[in-house]
Amino acid sequence: LLLSGCAQSKTLKVGVENDFRPFTYMESGEHKGFEVELWEAIAQKGGLRYELVPMETQEISPALKSGKIDLAIAGMTVNKARKDELAFSDPYFQTGLVMLTTADNETIRSKDDLQGKTVATKLDSTSYVYAGSLPGLKEAKGYPDIDQAYADLLAKKADCVIFDERNIHDFMQHAGNGRVKLVGEVLNKESYAVAAKKRNRYLGSVNSAIEQVSRNGTYESLYMKWFGS
Ligand code: ARG
Repeated sequence: LLLSGCAQSKTLKVGVENDFRPFTYMESGEHKGFEVELWEAIAQKGGLRYELVPMETQEISPALKSGKIDLAIAGMTVNKARKDELAFSDPYFQTGLVMLTTADNETIRSKDDLQGKTVATKLDSTSYVYAGSLPGLKEAKGYPDIDQAYADLLAKKADCVIFDERNIHDFMQHAGNGRVKLVGEVLNKESYAVAAKKRNRYLGSVNSAIEQVSRNGTYESLYMKWFGS
């Protein structure tokens, strides 16, 4: 019998990302970010032993299904297509997709101005699917690493980046500072949740831990630390 609060015998493999700032990324060889710290708090409450496994977006779903990893906390948006294939925890973050262009761009003001344009984003992301559905787009370029999409925008090899708004805000505050601007409205409202394969045995503890860290103030202090200013 596994009592709640007791460490399970197995060390869970938890998929994270290298480049999804400020949620999950690597810096000086260390895992950092809001999700890395939120996961630490969840695992502690749930009595879950774990190790983090960095991977690219497009590797996560196959790795969950094959059992290479047990869970993933990597800005994974819950949607219908993914729910057909995977199981998700309760959502822990509300967000959306936004459009970024260069500071000097006068032609793109909304998604309707994207006809004949090139959009760069992350491969297999919800933004990649969204961009692919826009009518008249010249090209939707998908990269394993979102920084390549930002580099394309700055080099004018793409007219626009569509991606998760908090990651775009982070880019605007750092490497993109002064060189890019947000345009248009939030394109698609999304929420993030912890992913697992169907019929897993972990999401029950994960959900109750999410509820506890939300009630005891841990979530709020992490939110303030990473998004507060
Ligand atoms: N939220 C977007 C999505 O789920 C992008 C997230 C990037 N990272 C990831 N592991 N999916 O497609």
